[in-house]
Amino acid sequence: MPARYFKTNGHLLVCQGQHCQARGSALLHRALWNHLERQALAYYKAGGSVRLTESGCLGACSFGPTLCVYRAAEGGLEEGWYAAVDFPLATRIAQAVHDGAALPTEQKYGPE
Ligand code: FES
Repeated sequence: MPARYFKTNGHLLVCQGQHCQARGSALLHRALWNHLERQALAYYKAGGSVRLTESGCLGACSFGPTLCVYRAAEGGLEEGWYAAVDFPLATRIAQAVHDGAALPTEQKYGPE
């Protein structure tokens, strides 16, 4: 049986490096995962479109939990990098990806 490809609107990565974990990133990832599941935003749900993955250190250790997001955009790939992410912000980022809306600006530190 061949592997199944899931088309998505974007991909969120939540850092699970030790510094972000010390600031609650494991709980943040779990809560966001549950939210995507409950709201049927997760890519594997009917109508869902958001992929979520744990990541290693994203290089902003003093400012975590750190989250980055990638999605296709006109002219290439759009990325957003966020520091001190809490659950409400993470859900807003996920919703923007699902809706194809502009990414939230609060706590966004890159790209310039
Ligand atoms: S441990 Fe999360 S950015 Fe380095």
